[in-house]
Amino acid sequence: MAMDLAHAADGYSAADAERVRAVTAPARDFLHPEAHENLSGGAGTFPGQPDAKAMSHPETTLDDKSVERFRLGFALFKKMWTPAPSSTQASDGLGPLFNARSCQSCHVRDGRGRPPEAGADSQSFLFRLARTPASKTERAALVAHEKLNFPDPVYGQQLQDKGVTGLAGEGRPVVTYSENVVTLGDGETVTLRRPHYSVSDLAYGPLHSDTTLSPRIAQGLAGMGLLEAIPEAAILAEADRQEKENEGVHGRPNHVRDPKTGALVIGRFGWKAQNPTVRAQAASALSTDIGISSPDAPNPYGDCTAAETACLKMPTGVQSRLGDTEAPDPILDLLTFYTGHLAVPARRDVDQPDVLAGKALFYRAGCAACHVPKFVTARDAVEAQHAFQLIWPYSDLLLHDMGEGLADGQQVGEASGREWRTAPLWGIGLAQIVNGYQAYLHDGRARTLEEAILWHGGEGEYARHAYAAMARTDRQKLLKFLGSL
Ligand code: HEC
Ligand code: HEC
Repeated sequence: MAMDLAHAADGYSAADAERVRAVTAPARDFLHPEAHENLSGGAGTFPGQPDAKAMSHPETTLDDKSVERFRLGFALFKKMWTPAPSSTQASDGLGPLFNARSCQSCHVRDGRGRPPEAGADSQSFLFRLARTPASKTERAALVAHEKLNFPDPVYGQQLQDKGVTGLAGEGRPVVTYSENVVTLGDGETVTLRRPHYSVSDLAYGPLHSDTTLSPRIAQGLAGMGLLEAIPEAAILAEADRQEKENEGVHGRPNHVRDPKTGALVIGRFGWKAQNPTVRAQAASALSTDIGISSPDAPNPYGDCTAAETACLKMPTGVQSRLGDTEAPDPILDLLTFYTGHLAVPARRDVDQPDVLAGKALFYRAGCAACHVPKFVTARDAVEAQHAFQLIWPYSDLLLHDMGEGLADGQQVGEASGREWRTAPLWGIGLAQIVNGYQAYLHDGRARTLEEAILWHGGEGEYARHAYAAMARTDRQKLLKFLGSL
């Protein structure tokens, strides 16, 4: 199943282009909802009353045969992988090092993860590891987009806290917080928690002195296939617009290689937009999070490095009668299909006066400069259901410098240690209902939507100030609008 349309032309006719311009123009009337504004994910939007399963429905536009594939994909998404050799059946080969045994362990009900709380570990939180280039050759590899960054020489690209029986996990992520009280314009105060990160129980010696820790929580998965179907030209046009308007917001795409084709395309997925397609993201998750090889990431040892000799002595799950990898196609295909066809839940209360007023404040505060409300997907999207849909992701998929407070100091491709992809906001109002907690921003430090806003710095400083300066009732309206997404 080819879902890598990142570099496909948009396929618009001149008449299409005119229609697209009209429907994606910024909202002006805040007394009434816009046409189709409730359908965040276009025609395939899940229209039902939101409950804990609100993020887990197939797009309503799928035909019966596709729903069947979606269900097969779901079975693999929740499948608990087991260590090799557990049986003569297909699909074992967990690890040898891993963070979790299934996709669903981290993307619980297809929702977002959380950081470790009160000393308890959290599966849905992990550290990406990388160091900056150390030589001319390494710098050249970065420039040529052959590498996104360079792994820790011992621990690799990610800290896996678990190992199969007989193999020590690499170490445990440790998070502590210090409190930081912020005073808003009207004197009200909000307490932010500033995280401090380290690793305990390092099993294979020290980390390299240049290795940085990039904390990440799992992201919500609704609407992935639609994000992939946004024309590259539309994203680049956003970057141009921001450059021209010159209001302190200047997003840039993260150019990365599609692992399947080698082509240089725009990265769209992950907190730093480091993965170009759903398939690439799924292959990388299988490899680094679960330790399962697939056609697009074929090393059965996952993220074991040459220095981790015990890891390299463990059995792998490759069975030649099934293919060259532990998850040969159709497994990766089905996982990609499932992840690419999760419906975005419909908006609630789009016509409520407070929500509409909050939407006006969202525009006025400059949030919409980065959290771009709407796009129309490509006419020639490979997946027919994803073609020419008006969608409302509230993201430009571009990288922005978000200031020192959010910086992780880790470069990923063209993304610097201060840059993050604008987080799509569709579905964000359902976090509590779907997962039973709230944890926002790349590391889940924000416990409320308000805290998430107050962490915005760098290019987001203006919007943060605008929010902090609002009257209390206006802040509540803005938060109500976010809650309706
Ligand atoms: C150990 C926890 C964990 C497991 C297991 C896991 N993920 Fe993730 N997932 C994450 C994290 C963390 C991110 C953010 C990654 C980043 O920014 O580098 C993520 C991001 C994603 C994204 C991108 C979302 C976006 O908005 O850009 C997709 C798609 C995804 N995962 C699919 C999968 C699939 C499919 C599987 C199973 C093969 C899987 N994940 C297994 C933790 C996990
Ligand atoms: C300069 C671009 C920019 C502007 C302006 C901006 N944001 Fe963001 N926003 C981002 C980026 C980038 C992230 C992800 C940051 C991170 O994870 O560290 C983000 C994250 C968020 C999140 C958390 C999303 C999640 O999935 O955890 C919320 C909520 C949010 N923004 C709301 C707002 C609101 C409301 C405004 C206006 C007051 C605003 N943003 C203005 C770029 C921007």
